[in-house]
Amino acid sequence: MEKVTIALAKGRLAEKTIALFEQARLDVAGLRDESRKLVLENDMFSVLMVKPTDVPVYVEHGVADLGVCGKDTLLESNANLYEMMDLKFGACKLCLAGWPGTDPHRSGIKVATKYEHFARQYFRGRGESIEIIHLSGSVELGPIAGLSDIILDIVESGRTLRENGLTVLEEIVPVSARLCVNRVSLKVKAVQVQMILEKLRRAMEETEI
Ligand code: PRP
Repeated sequence: MEKVTIALAKGRLAEKTIALFEQARLDVAGLRDESRKLVLENDMFSVLMVKPTDVPVYVEHGVADLGVCGKDTLLESNANLYEMMDLKFGACKLCLAGWPGTDPHRSGIKVATKYEHFARQYFRGRGESIEIIHLSGSVELGPIAGLSDIILDIVESGRTLRENGLTVLEEIVPVSARLCVNRVSLKVKAVQVQMILEKLRRAMEETEI
């Protein structure tokens, strides 16, 4: 049977993804313990450890048959793939945030974000005209440094906002880790893909008990 390739996100989701795969008895032991390995091979599948925003790219292009990344990453990428499972971990929210009392829907407001496409779509959907400033990280600095009026970003514990005097102005959408599948792989590697999905489903049930 042809092996499948799985793209997993490095960074904040990595540890919990590896823990879920281990619970599912999908062997990813080589990725544990501060490993810097980017590729792992076993008899059943290969794993590529990629930057979160690259997960949908690998899956859409079929270089990876399956991928795990946050819903925020999928919303931003708009990639043509199947979102198959909500893995529940990595829960946070995409929010508008800024100085307390700021009206996030003021016309012409400047919004700093890593989620440029999603932000454009969101404000366009409300018929609001805004200015988007793309940042790659530490987005909270936008309003603090005077680069933007507000930010659109993920809020997990809320600690980064709190420690910088900022607050959530509006919650837009809940986010968690998702398993996504390449559209062709779902058909041509159906047996392998379904087997992995089933193992993950069972592992999630086991951890809920
Ligand atoms: C994310 C996000 C916020 C922070 C939210 O940044 O962009 O800055 O985490 O988490 P909290 O609500 O628990 O404080 P990340 O740590 O991924 O780093 P980045 O700023 O480099 O994107």
